[in-house]
Amino acid sequence: MNRFAGQAVFVTGGNKGIGRGIAKRFAEEGAKVAIAAIEKDTLEAAAALANETGAEIIGLALDVTDAKAVREAYAEAEAKLGAISVSVQNAGVITIAKVENLTEREWDLNLDVNTKGVFLCCQEAIRRFRASGMKGRLINTASGQARQGFIYTPHYAASKFGVVGLSQSLAKELAREGITVNAICPGIIHTEMWDYNDRVWGQMLGEYGPGELMAEWVEGIPMGRAGTPAEVAALVSFLASADAAYITGQTINVDGGLIMS
Ligand SMILES: NC(=O)c1ccc[n+]([C@@H]2O[C@H](COP(=O)([O-])OP(=O)(O)OC[C@H]3O[C@@H](n4cnc5c(N)ncnc54)[C@H](O)[C@@H]3O)[C@@H](O)[C@H]2O)c1
Repeated sequence: MNRFAGQAVFVTGGNKGIGRGIAKRFAEEGAKVAIAAIEKDTLEAAAALANETGAEIIGLALDVTDAKAVREAYAEAEAKLGAISVSVQNAGVITIAKVENLTEREWDLNLDVNTKGVFLCCQEAIRRFRASGMKGRLINTASGQARQGFIYTPHYAASKFGVVGLSQSLAKELAREGITVNAICPGIIHTEMWDYNDRVWGQMLGEYGPGELMAEWVEGIPMGRAGTPAEVAALVSFLASADAAYITGQTINVDGGLIMS
C-alpha cells in the first residue's frame, strides 16, 4: 500500500519504541516523515530510518513541553517536507512510585509530557491544518492506563485519562472542519519503557527477576503475547487513512484483548 504518498507526517517520540514503528510504517507507505524527540540521537535515528526505508525522514530535537519549541519544530518540518497532514502525539514518559514517595516533580513530569505535550502538539498541528486547508488527522497515544489506573502510577494514569478527554474535546471542536482526532491505547508493547516497567514494578511487587513480571503479565493477555510497535503502527496508519474519514473522538485499544472496554 502507498496510502500516504507525498504526504508529510509528524511523529513525536519517533526515534525509538512505538514511535519508531509508527514513523517506519508511514515511511513505508510513501510519506515524508518528521520524527521529533527529546533524545540527542534523534537526528541519527532519522538517518537510520531513512536508510532503512528509502523515504525522506528528518529528525528534530524537541521537548514537547516547550510551546515555543513545538511551534518551531512544526515550522521546520513544514519548511522541509511541506504541509503536514497527519500528526501523531506519541512521546511519553512513565515513573513508578508508592503514593507516599511520589514527588511533585514526578507528577508534573508525567502530566507535562503525556498530557500538556500532546495538547501543545495538537494545537500547533491544528493551526497548520487550518492555514493549509488540510483535513488533517491527529492521533494521540494514551494507554491501557487511560482505561483503568494501575498500582503505583496514579500520575501516569491521570495523564493518560487526560489524553482521552482532550482528544474528545478537540474532536468535537474540529469535526465540522473534517479534522479527526482519535486516541489509541496500547497494552503491553515491548520497548525500553516496558523494560523499565519490568524492572521497577518487578522490584516493588515482589522478588521478580529480569523479564519475569513481564512474562507473568503477558500470560494474562487473552492472546498470550506482548504486542509490537508495528501492530500499534497498523492502527495509527488506519486512523490516518482515507478509510477512517468518518471516525473521530474515539479511543481504541491495541492490546491483544487485555482490556475489553
Ligand atoms: N510500551 C508500552 O507497553 C506502552 C503501553 C501503553 C502506552 N505506551 C505509550 O506509548 C508511547 C511510546 O512509548 P514507548 O514504549 O515507545 O516508550 P519509549 O520510552 O521507548 O519512548 C518514549 C519516547 O518519548 C520521547 N519523549 C519523552 N519525553 C519527551 C519530551 N519531553 N519531548 C519529546 N519527546 C519525549 C522519547 O524521546 C522517546 O522517543 C508513550 O506515550 C507511552 O506512554 C506505551
